[in-house]
Amino acid sequence: MTHDLDRRAFLQTGATLAASASLATRAVAQPQVVIPTAPVTGAIATGIIGTGGRGTADLGAVLEHGKVAAVCDVKADRMKAAADVAMRDTPAQYADYRRVLDRKDIEAVVIATPPHLHAEMAVAALQAGKHVYCEKPVAITPASVAQVVKAVKASGKVFIAGQQLRSYKRLGAAVGKIRAGAIGDVLMIKAQRHSESDLSHTGTSADWFFDVEKSGGYLIEMSVHNLDLCNWAIGATPLKAAGFGGILLYKDDPPGRSIMDGYTLSYDYPGGVKLYFTQMVFHPKGLPGGGQFVHVYGQKGACDLMGDTSVYPLDGKAPPAELVPKMEEAPNAHMLAFYECIRGKGTNPADITVGATGALTAIMGHQAITTGKVVEWKTIAGDLS
Ligand SMILES: NC(=O)c1ccc[n+]([C@@H]2O[C@H](COP(=O)([O-])OP(=O)(O)OC[C@H]3O[C@@H](n4cnc5c(N)ncnc54)[C@H](O)[C@@H]3O)[C@@H](O)[C@H]2O)c1
Repeated sequence: MTHDLDRRAFLQTGATLAASASLATRAVAQPQVVIPTAPVTGAIATGIIGTGGRGTADLGAVLEHGKVAAVCDVKADRMKAAADVAMRDTPAQYADYRRVLDRKDIEAVVIATPPHLHAEMAVAALQAGKHVYCEKPVAITPASVAQVVKAVKASGKVFIAGQQLRSYKRLGAAVGKIRAGAIGDVLMIKAQRHSESDLSHTGTSADWFFDVEKSGGYLIEMSVHNLDLCNWAIGATPLKAAGFGGILLYKDDPPGRSIMDGYTLSYDYPGGVKLYFTQMVFHPKGLPGGGQFVHVYGQKGACDLMGDTSVYPLDGKAPPAELVPKMEEAPNAHMLAFYECIRGKGTNPADITVGATGALTAIMGHQAITTGKVVEWKTIAGDLS
């Protein structure tokens, strides 16, 4: 798979994602870290469930801030490869995730399996008394999102969704300033996630990604990051969604494909704020307007949250002004936040409310496209409290 490096560049240089995104990459990068040779003192014993592309990246973050007590994967070669990476901590290896949950010494788990398995595994882990770092999306149906919400509330354990944009200091500062009125009231957002080609048909996740029942498709599996950022900037979840999409180019490619490769969505938010979002995987290299952006338009000007966040004044008379300065992002800050919350320090940047609302925003859009109807938040979100 080809994810990560372009976004790592974004974090380190402040360059725009729009300029760097090319293939249909899924991860948002963790900056490279040097793994300590000795475990962190008082490290929290953690099991990694699912040791494919993302689980192995998360494992690196656990090695930096915690202890890898177990690795788990139904594919023995991936599990062994992960155990080799984590050899410092001599983790146990299990093919069945329930054996990880049986281990009383394991306090926390990272769930990095395909999305259709997240809810079952997260609920079981919480009921077994584990803290949970659950990769995004939290779940891919309204009912399974609700199950996770219920289990988190009943458990008293820390639950963090793998929506790591929420731990980027610069984004947090930019969103804070927008919400405080730096560009006036937010009126509209135009956002997109365009890439030059489909996700790899032979990569590690190809055996589930193209099945909508397992991944939710590009919209739910990938763009949960982008849509959550829009919700964050607006400070609300949408009231309604409408949209159109389909398998436009990659018909039956790979064979049996059931996920869309292009769609457009419109969301209506409280106060009349609008969001227009598109995703597609056939934006030719070199054609202007590709990549990713989140253009936030306010009464006084606009900025790109996925770019350098400069504010372009509405009257165009002054040059773009810096909204927030460039900041050094701490490596693996999201995983560190998870452990800090377990220790009772700090606030959870992506708690179950963030995880559930992000997933439901994407699910709502998916339902709008597949039913051809306007879908209302209340019909899919129910009572999130
Ligand atoms: N936060 C991010 O930016 C980011 C980036 C990439 C992927 N992800 C998410 O991480 C998750 C995994 O994605 P990936 O790219 O690593 O996929 P992957 O296919 O590379 O890895 C998934 C692994 O889970 C294993 N698995 C499947 N069923 C299992 C089971 N019952 N028990 C144990 N292991 C099982 C598979 O064998 C595979 O090794 C997805 O939810 C994806 O959305 C998040």
